[in-house]
Amino acid sequence: MKKFLTIAVAALLFVPNYSSAKEGMWIPFLLGQLNESEMQAMGMQMTAEDIYSVNQSSLKDAIVHFGGFCTGEVISSQGLVLTNHHCGYGAIQSHSSVENNYLEDGFWAMERSDEKPNPDLFVTFIKEIQDVTVRALYGIEEGMTEAERTKMIDENIEKIIAEEEEKSEYDVMVRTFFKGNQFFLFFTETFKDVRLVGAPPSSIGKYGADTDNWMWPRHTGDFSLFRIYADENNQPAEYSETNVPFRPNHHLPISLGDVNPGDFTMIFGFPGSTDEYVPSRVIEGIIEEVNPLGISFRERSLAAMDKYMRAEKAVKIKYASKYARISNSYKKWIGMVKGLKFSQAVAEKELYEEAFMQRVSTNRRFPASYKTILDSYKAIYDEYLVYQLARQAFIEAGIVNVELLDYARAWNRFVAMAESTEDEAKLQSAFESLVAGMEGFYKDFDVRVDRDVYAAVMPYYESRIEMNLRADNIPGDPMDSEASMSEIDKLYGKTYLRSLESMQSLTSKGWEKTYKKLKKDPMLALASDMMDSYREEILPMYRTFNTKIDSLDRLYMQAQMNVFSERTFYPDANSTLRVSYGQVEGFYPRDGVMYNHYTTLDGVIEKYEPGDYEFDLPERLLDLYAEQDYGRYANGAGEMPVCFIASNHTSGGNSGSPAIDANGNLIGLNFDRVWEGTMSDYNFDERLCRNIMVDIRYVLFIVDKFAGAGHLVNEMTLVLPEPTIDRDAPQQEVMPEEGPVD
Ligand code: ARG
Ligand code: ASP
Repeated sequence: MKKFLTIAVAALLFVPNYSSAKEGMWIPFLLGQLNESEMQAMGMQMTAEDIYSVNQSSLKDAIVHFGGFCTGEVISSQGLVLTNHHCGYGAIQSHSSVENNYLEDGFWAMERSDEKPNPDLFVTFIKEIQDVTVRALYGIEEGMTEAERTKMIDENIEKIIAEEEEKSEYDVMVRTFFKGNQFFLFFTETFKDVRLVGAPPSSIGKYGADTDNWMWPRHTGDFSLFRIYADENNQPAEYSETNVPFRPNHHLPISLGDVNPGDFTMIFGFPGSTDEYVPSRVIEGIIEEVNPLGISFRERSLAAMDKYMRAEKAVKIKYASKYARISNSYKKWIGMVKGLKFSQAVAEKELYEEAFMQRVSTNRRFPASYKTILDSYKAIYDEYLVYQLARQAFIEAGIVNVELLDYARAWNRFVAMAESTEDEAKLQSAFESLVAGMEGFYKDFDVRVDRDVYAAVMPYYESRIEMNLRADNIPGDPMDSEASMSEIDKLYGKTYLRSLESMQSLTSKGWEKTYKKLKKDPMLALASDMMDSYREEILPMYRTFNTKIDSLDRLYMQAQMNVFSERTFYPDANSTLRVSYGQVEGFYPRDGVMYNHYTTLDGVIEKYEPGDYEFDLPERLLDLYAEQDYGRYANGAGEMPVCFIASNHTSGGNSGSPAIDANGNLIGLNFDRVWEGTMSDYNFDERLCRNIMVDIRYVLFIVDKFAGAGHLVNEMTLVLPEPTIDRDAPQQEVMPEEGPVD
């Protein structure tokens, strides 16, 4: 492969890197205009209309926003939905108990009546997207203040929504794109009866856990299955026993064909948020300040948890999910810093800015405001950063890591309510709901662990954040660790929150007594001091700067699009439906190392460590491996493929997105990115950025051979694409091994 360009050479060859062939998260209804020919040149056999259409069924009719935080896809005519295990995790956990531990053992509904409803879960289809920029910006004039502008746009949008809702059978929402420069309207349809159908044991669905998270080579079967239910007219309905499986306008056929380097791939889903167009100073801030701060907090708290988790199995069970949550961003931030440095993102942005300034200053067509944007950023960014970091530190210390501080906030709200209301019924019910939640909170809590997390995190917080931006009297001493520990022991010894027993004995005396005692509790007092200093000292300034930065962002975005008008821009991710496309390919993460594009069951077995909580495996999988019993799910070489990587631009929220081949068939299930490439949220570099998918054949193998739930495979549409691609040739349909279930 080509060596990485040195900066000097890059300067000579420099082209702004937006919209290289594989970069971008594109808007489905603009594909025909912007992307179709490139996609076809990369091997796609479909048209833009096959992917997104309002007149005929298209791929988009099989894609759902899953619970608002992940993506899912419909894979049968009976509303079967595929998503990740880590996306279904909450649902699977909610049905798990000591007797039926579905997280540990997996769950498979062998009949429809076994499928489990999930009251809080929903899936949303996108029915149509329209550009409403002109209507949203109606009446906006140059020279308006930011507040006036925002107010007018909000009013316009409210009006648009009201008008469209009146005309449409669907829900309506408007979202802003390109940092407030464009506005699109979405007609959506949300289904609320979504039932759990199947999940592998965590030893498959979460195989490799935190050690392997964000890494390649990967061996995780990160999938779970759900089913959408509708009323007898196929319309959305609240859960009801009489609901029936939803009949979608389209479900994705599934390819059993081989996945080869160079094959066209497309990811269709809901990426959450990216920031590709910020100036170099912001990237520098992320590398030097923002990420290191978060990393420092979390490495301290993770180490404190890990000590107990390794020593005691009970603690490991209690803290596994918390640990995974905290470590997920922690690990991503580390990868991001490495990747931003390695890809020379700051230097690249600086060159881009030079090119921008050059054009702006030599072409009189551009408004004067363009010339000063970058300087304006510089002028306020350092000050903004002070508040951004203080805010981040408050969140890390008081919300994310020390659990009792977070829990104290909930009780503080009750105390505040008791101070301000006479409404006894309201108080009583707030009190009861907190009391009802106590067992759930303490089930996964160990006071020794939390005390050590506090000791690891709070003195650091105190030393990092200027005194005027935090609470004054924080127990713990950054300078003297012995004195520190004794203050912290005192705090944890005194607070009522220290244990379920102490809270139960307190709350059994009723809301009034509880309120009076908690009012004087040291943990609640600390949480409330921290919150006050956040609200009074940090938030107002943070908001003021944020508003300024928002308006600079809007201007800079508009300027970039005008100044580099020869390029095609894609908007940053904003949890709306997007298409990314690329190809199956390995990569060179660093000198002397080449990553292959796929992994196999052999690699799963290589990592196997009996009894280990991350790398243990179920007997049944070991048996299937010993028998090499892969049936029709083996690849052409006779191996059982497990995961593969490709160069699609994805982000958080793309988990559960389908990987679709040139013909519109499902070949994989997206669930992660490689560590070297997590900087793609700020700087997509096609040499390093790869998304990670489970091979769909591994999913089918687990469902069919491992779980014996072949009836689910039978309701899917399996195809074997012809070896040579011919758009008009019919695809050969593989007959189910048994007839469909109903
Ligand atoms: N890194 C993936 C994503 O950001 C998977 C996260 C779930 N797994 C975990 N070990 N935390 O969401
Ligand atoms: N694992 C991420 C998700 O849950 C996907 C990613 O960040 O690549 O959405």
